[in-house]
Amino acid sequence: MNNAIARTTALLSTCALLLAGCGGGGGPVTVTNSPNTTTNNTATDTAATTGTLSGAIPIGIAVAQTSNVALLGQEQVAGAKLAEKYFNSKGGVNGTPIKLVFQDTSGDEAGAINAFQTLINKDKVIGIVGPTLSQQAFSADPIAERAKVPILGPSNTAKNIPEIGDYVARVSAPVSVVAPNSVKAALKQNPQVKKVAVFYAQNDAFSKSETEIFQQTVKDQGLELVTVQKFQTSDTDFQSQATNAINLKPDLVIISGLAADGGNLVRQLRELGYKGLIVGGNGLNTSNLLPVCKALCDGVLIAQAYSPEHPGEINAAFRKAYTEEYKKEPPQFSAQAFAAVQVYIEALQALDKKSKINKLQLPELRTQLNKQILVGTYNTPLGEIRFTPIGEVDQRDFYVAQIKMAKDGSQGKFTFLK
Ligand code: ALA
Repeated sequence: MNNAIARTTALLSTCALLLAGCGGGGGPVTVTNSPNTTTNNTATDTAATTGTLSGAIPIGIAVAQTSNVALLGQEQVAGAKLAEKYFNSKGGVNGTPIKLVFQDTSGDEAGAINAFQTLINKDKVIGIVGPTLSQQAFSADPIAERAKVPILGPSNTAKNIPEIGDYVARVSAPVSVVAPNSVKAALKQNPQVKKVAVFYAQNDAFSKSETEIFQQTVKDQGLELVTVQKFQTSDTDFQSQATNAINLKPDLVIISGLAADGGNLVRQLRELGYKGLIVGGNGLNTSNLLPVCKALCDGVLIAQAYSPEHPGEINAAFRKAYTEEYKKEPPQFSAQAFAAVQVYIEALQALDKKSKINKLQLPELRTQLNKQILVGTYNTPLGEIRFTPIGEVDQRDFYVAQIKMAKDGSQGKFTFLK
């Protein structure tokens, strides 16, 4: 089996497992396979085990390769791997290749903590890209902070992520910057919107943070917030919350959750007769949502921190590599993971020019690298990004996409709005 087929098969089996739990309010939705990646536990032959670098430079990738969160995480794995291949083909870090070391975080805090500890202490990575969820970052990032290991969050968008510590930065723009765009796009499509129902996953830090922004945006736009409904990311049955909301006749529904729960909620809202606009938050921003709500995903609006159309050489290269391998346009989670790996490589290149990185002891290298990350400017597929002194990403361009499904629900895509 070639790579593309293997990955497509893995993706389909993820979706099949997901769907098995989606139909008719059945059992819990879980993904138990490890999609499209291999875990590399042995950095010993490539990495710094004696204090300084020898051989390929190990960068940790700690994202969700299993659990429902893999619906987001598998896109991150894809983006990171494309970056590894692309930058190594260009000479890596001034002639030395990088080597990604993957540790599966699964979907919870314990998994993220384990993955971080292994990458830091055993694999001796110079820095980590991860974890997938803000909920995981609030538990795992403090471990890296104490060990003085740089963290680049590839998708953590809750408020206060960079504030976790000096070694924590992110390439994923926060909810405050991204989320309002989709509400404004909804109002442009239907200026008659007055009543808004908001849903959020109360067990998820990002969803709680995002709903605050959504609710504030609703008020700022002079709309009436008719209800706030809560659920859990592990829920599959949303009948009572959906019915409560529909009874209040909203013109717009806004959902902050993750992909499996979010997709099931969209589906059940439509099945119960809701006809108005739906805005989904960042946790629904994956085409892995489409097999969950199928034809009923049609029309969902989701703000984007990446556009495949973004001009420039690096995005053209990323888009070409992604579409060749996956036969579809690259998603935001892949672009952000690519950007995070790119930031490490370019920061290492700059640092190496100042003081040879293979002469630095690992703790010193990690510390100097962390400083270098924060002073650089990076021309990534997301556009030009840089960091504030505390590690918040500074990014310019944001977009909104709308899901367009085939009538039979068998396929669909994100259409970017003008
Ligand atoms: N943006 C989501 C989070 O921060 C995935 O958890």
